Formats: sequence, C-alpha cells, structure tokens
Amino acid sequence: MKSKWWQEAVVYQIYCKSFYDSNGDGIGDLPGVMEKLPQLKELGINCIWFTPIYTSPQVDNGYDVADYKDIDPAYGTLEDFKRLLDMAHSLGIKIVMDMVLNHSSDKCRWFQEAKKSRDNPYRNYYIWHDGKPDGSEPNNWGNYFYEGKGSAWEWDENTQQYYLHYYSKHMPDLNWEYEPLRQEVYAMMRWWLDMGVDGFRLDVITSLKKPEGFPDYPGQLEVNGYAIGREQRCNVPGIHEIIQEMNREVFSRYDCMTVGEASRVNSVTGADYIRADRKELDSLYHFDICHRLPKPPTVLEYKQAQMRWYKTLENNAWLAQHLSNHDYPRQVSRFGDDTTYRVESAKMLATLTHTMPGTPYVYQGEEIGMTNVEFPTIEQYNDPYTVGQYHALTKAGEPEETVWAKLRPISRDNPRTPYQWDDSENAGFTTGKPWLEVNPRYKEINVVADRAMENSIFAYYQKLIALRKENPAMVNGTLEMLLPEHPEVVMYLRKTCRQTLLVVCNFSGKEIRVELPAEVKAHGWQRILTNREDTIPSLERSRWLPWEAEIYELRC
Ligand code: NOJ
Repeated sequence: MKSKWWQEAVVYQIYCKSFYDSNGDGIGDLPGVMEKLPQLKELGINCIWFTPIYTSPQVDNGYDVADYKDIDPAYGTLEDFKRLLDMAHSLGIKIVMDMVLNHSSDKCRWFQEAKKSRDNPYRNYYIWHDGKPDGSEPNNWGNYFYEGKGSAWEWDENTQQYYLHYYSKHMPDLNWEYEPLRQEVYAMMRWWLDMGVDGFRLDVITSLKKPEGFPDYPGQLEVNGYAIGREQRCNVPGIHEIIQEMNREVFSRYDCMTVGEASRVNSVTGADYIRADRKELDSLYHFDICHRLPKPPTVLEYKQAQMRWYKTLENNAWLAQHLSNHDYPRQVSRFGDDTTYRVESAKMLATLTHTMPGTPYVYQGEEIGMTNVEFPTIEQYNDPYTVGQYHALTKAGEPEETVWAKLRPISRDNPRTPYQWDDSENAGFTTGKPWLEVNPRYKEINVVADRAMENSIFAYYQKLIALRKENPAMVNGTLEMLLPEHPEVVMYLRKTCRQTLLVVCNFSGKEIRVELPAEVKAHGWQRILTNREDTIPSLERSRWLPWEAEIYELRC
C-alpha cells in the first residue's frame, strides 16, 4: 500500500521562542524562522511542527493559549504566519500546529467570561466544583507544576467555586463534556486547516476526559498531601469517543496529519488511539524511552520498547520516533556522550531515530549536537516545572545538592536554550538579551563550527534524511531485531519484498566485538552509511568502535 505523506516525512520541531530572533528583542520569531527556512530545506526535512505560537501570557511558554486564532505579538502577526506557510509550502515543507486542548490560559476570553458569574454562557467551558463541607478543595489532586500549595484546584472568590487546573492556576482545564465547547474547538481547528496548515500535534491528548465523580487519588501523596501527575488522570473511559468525534468533525475532512502526545499509555492502550480502523489519530509518541525518570532506559530496555510497540502495532498503526523534544533533556546528553564522543554519539542516536519504524522527529539543535546546560542558580531557570519543584523540595527540607542533582539533568530548560547559530555573542541568536541564557558551550557547538567540520553532524542528518527518501525499507520495512539480548549493540533488519537493510549501532562508549548472527552471514552487504568513515566498510570486521553506527544494504 502506498504510504501517506506523513509516514514518509521527516518532522523538524521548532521551539520558536528559541530559534532565531530577527528584531533584537531576545525572543525568536516568525520572520526569524522565515530567514532560516533555506537551512531547513538544505537539511532535507519536509514538515515543521511549531510548538504553540498563539497569543499567550507565556506562563508555560505558549501552552497557555489566550487566543487560539491569533499569533503572539512577540512572534509576529497572523500575516507573518500566512507568509511563512506559503513560503514553506513553496519549498515543499508542511506545517503542523500544536493544539492545546486540555486547558487554555486564564486570559482566554472564554475564561474571562466564565468567571464573571455562575450563569455566564461560557461557565461550562471550564470545570467548576464546590469545596468540601469544610471549605477545602474538592479532592486531593495536585497540579503538575507544584505551584502554590500544590492543589489542582483554585478558589474563585467571585463565584464561590473552585476550578480545575492540572497545570498552573493560570491554565484552567477545559470541559470536554460540554458540547458547545467541543463545537467551538472543532470550528477553530477547521479554521487553521482551511488556512492551509497540514496537521496538528495534540498536546496531552490522553487527559481530555476527567475521572467521573472527581475521586481522591489513592496511594502515597507528594508535597503537602496532594497527588501529582497520576495515571488515573489519563486514558479515562470516554476519551476515545471524544477523539472519534474530533476525527469526524475535523480530521476526516482534510488531508492532514495528527500526532498525539500520549502520556501514560502502553503499547496496547496506545494502539487504541492510532489503529487505522479506530478513526482517531494518525500517530502518537509515547514515553517508554524518552522520559524524565532519573535514569534513561538501558539499551536492552530501549530494544524491548521498540519491539513491544512494533509487535503490538504491526501494520495497523504508526509511531513518532523521537529521543528528545522541548520537554526532555538533549538526546546527546541523556543517551549519548556529550563530551569525548559528542559527534559520534549524536550521529548514532540519529541513526536509530531515522531507521526504526515510524516518522522521525528532529528537535531543533539536535542536528548540530546541542547539549544540556547546567545553570548555577534557580533564577537562571525559566521552566515552571523546574522552578516549582525546586521551591517545593527545598522548602520540604531536601538538601540543595540533592535537589539540583535531581532537577538539572531533566530540567525542561535543557532543550529550550537558544539555538546556537555561531560563536558570536549570544550564539548569534539575538542582538538583544536572550529570554533564556545561551548554553555556555556555544563557542564550540554551533551551526558554523559544525558545518565547517568534515563529516559534520548536520551533513550526517542530511545523508540520513536523503537515504530515507531513496530507501523504502526505511519507511515501510518490517523490523527484525538481531542479538536481542546484547546489552550494548542494537542490530536490526528492515525488510520489504524488494529491499533488505541492516542497521548496526554500538550504543555504548566501549569498543565491542560481536559474533555475527546467522541471518547476516551472507555476502553482498554494501555499506550505505557510517558515522566512522575511517573504518573498513565490511560487516566481517565484527568489531565496532564506540558509538559506531552503520547501515548496510543487501545487494546480491
Ligand atoms: C505538554 C507540553 O509538551 C508541555 O510543554 C506543557 O507544559 C504541557 N503539555 C502542558 O500543556
């Protein structure tokens, strides 16, 4: 069967605020993106996902939307956006918008109306609840940002009720039980698609439906007796009916793509959102590999997760492949080696993302090997999750040192520092004061320095992306994991009836010798990509250098 455009695509994620500032106000903007589109074209990507660029007070960097039909003035105007859309389309690049449907900003007109009175027509756009008889919050749910005392409920003095906010109190949750809200949201989504956008990334889509009766969460509670970020919050029965309705009302009417941010799913529950026969979403990304637990998954866990998802989905559903995004550490720092083998490990990780089944997602900066950052003081951090947790944990008596050790490596500011264009002041990102400090390693790690290198990371991404266009097995091939028990080597076949590819990655900083498995002992393997150009292009070596990555094609 012919693949869909979004299956063949390579998606590049732009965190606009940190991409390129064209007017010196310290904030990246749409004219800045337009100026840099040729570089993205050169890279070879053919789809951009914009994290939210709508009008927003920026409590959560745009995930608090005040006007779903306008662009934040810091980024430009709606006219700028339309120009960008045309420009991107003329370069063969599609544009995907981030849809934040679990909550809005408290500055959104809907909420401003809703809190005026209990009988305001917008009241039911949000989730209101009386307090307990003693006046306390309706239940023990906590807010994800550890804001205030920690509750997910905020008291509204004017109308004498609490409203629900899974995140900040400035981000009230929308009420998906209410038909007029749903219809207004669907109309807004169609408005973007009618303008020409090519699809949506759906923010925290698994939590639109709230648990019936708002029960207390059981089990151990976090700070101040509130339960933060629980499983019960996601995949509540009834969620699929909402998404099926969204599909009927919006997605099915356009040639668009959808990718859901699917928190708290496993391969079985996740499949329910994306199996073609369900008519819900086209694809999703899960968090079995890319997560914020203290330790990244082991190589074995990585392989098991890929196989688990592959086997459950078979040919009926599609995944997004990613190792990082604006919420997760830089991939080379988390999974690779961001010092001695930064270049090699950045390339090896890219090889996995581009050759495992699914659509590869490139997060801005990854194509030049940008790394995590370690700011010395909490004032230098911006991410509400990091700042909230820091204050909550230190107040609860945890020593500073342990708090930093916990938070620094997983802070969401790691991937959000400004893009490193060159080694001039502020990495060439802005002529003003950047909204978030630049990573001090920008002198060494930037586009100009990377591209000046023979065998740059950028050039490796170009090759990978070009190979995906030429080799159908990279898109549609079956996945056969070889050496499944090996703790360091990830070796697998991707096969269609016409082509067989073999990918070999040494997912470690050690030199490794392996006995070749029987499946690949045949002759006729031709190397089509390597990140260690100084090696002999032959599988017979059976010896892999630290972080080595290679792709072979069977030609016989
Ligand atoms: C997931 C987004 O990726 C994250 O950045 C945001 O804070 C939450 N959803 C809330 O919208």
